Amino acid sequence: MRCREVRLTAVPDRSVTAENFGVFDADVAGPARGQVLVGPRRLGLNAGLAHRLGGRGTAYGPGIGVGDVPASDAVVEVIESDDPDFEPGGLAVGQVPWRTVALVDADQLRKIEMPATIEELNAHLTVLGHVGFTAYTGMIHMGKVQPDDVVYISGAAGGVGSCAVQFAKAIGATVIGVAGSAEKVALLTDVLGADCAVNRHDGPAVDLLRAAAPDGIDLYYDNVGGEQLEAALDVLKFGGRAIICGAISDGAGSGAPANYRNLIRAELTMRGFTVTAHENLRGQFESEVRGWLRADRVRSIHTLFDGIERVPEAFESLLTGGSTGRVIVAMPGFQGN
Ligand SMILES: NC(=O)c1ccc[n+]([C@@H]2O[C@H](COP(=O)([O-])OP(=O)(O)OC[C@H]3O[C@@H](n4cnc5c(N)ncnc54)[C@H](OP(=O)(O)O)[C@@H]3O)[C@@H](O)[C@H]2O)c1
Repeated sequence: MRCREVRLTAVPDRSVTAENFGVFDADVAGPARGQVLVGPRRLGLNAGLAHRLGGRGTAYGPGIGVGDVPASDAVVEVIESDDPDFEPGGLAVGQVPWRTVALVDADQLRKIEMPATIEELNAHLTVLGHVGFTAYTGMIHMGKVQPDDVVYISGAAGGVGSCAVQFAKAIGATVIGVAGSAEKVALLTDVLGADCAVNRHDGPAVDLLRAAAPDGIDLYYDNVGGEQLEAALDVLKFGGRAIICGAISDGAGSGAPANYRNLIRAELTMRGFTVTAHENLRGQFESEVRGWLRADRVRSIHTLFDGIERVPEAFESLLTGGSTGRVIVAMPGFQGN
């Protein structure tokens, strides 16, 4: 079958631009046993892929050389299948190459329910996707957020953080988010529904948090570690909880919080988690978050680009900050969209 595909045509010199990619015609074979021929309907782009262009692989995939077709997570529609679990017309999510038609091993795909709306289709790459599942596992399952909790979230405008903010609000908690720019602070309060948001560049984290939560916080959702974690350990109320999702500010791992003895003084609980160990929560997650989406209590935050020809431009926009939320490329085929 003929298709269009995006290839790396030049190794980026300094920054990645749309000109590092080209869109070409290509042929795709039919499925062999255990394979599925799919049409991506939504491609979600990841900034981390830039580190692999012309270089070595990372934990997220192999190095990408000139002539290679990068891959991203996507919502796909089954076109043809030689696997009993997948039927033409069904939808699934998985990693697929940047092509209009792609051949994928069936065990790399996970079937999803037919979305009720286009918003729900997009949400499979945001609140119903990996970042949503991470935030759900941390905030709802580990953090057991309650309506009367005051919750502090670091990296709150990022992929996981923006879902954590919305899920805590859907439960009815009071949410304080911290982010790194005025635009993100506005996104947190005006779009995501946070009760209060602070810019981490406006002063020492502990001073900003004390001003935002004069009576203390009950729950801290940590995406970044470092100064934010120390601030939270100082401001958590007696018996408070800290959920450790990530430590992005900690580089190669420079050290534990200096004030960890607050765990003793204030009987705090600090708990880390790895989302891949909680696949058993997937059904509960999808059904609860789908319900919140349909009730307009959470939303998918993304910037849409149309068509495979715009993938290079969309990728550049992701890296230059010209977009809000997840960058998603829409491809025709689902309900005519
Ligand atoms: N535990 C798990 O199973 C699991 C699963 C997935 C992801 N994670 C972790 O979850 C965290 C969030 O992931 P994500 O996909 O949401 O990433 P993301 O979209 O890149 O968001 C991370 C945010 O962290 C903030 N940040 C970056 N450097 C910082 C620094 N030096 N100090 C303070 N804040 C900083 C940035 O926001 P501002 O500049 O706006 O502050 C950024 O938006 C990461 O640490 C990731 O490794 C964990």
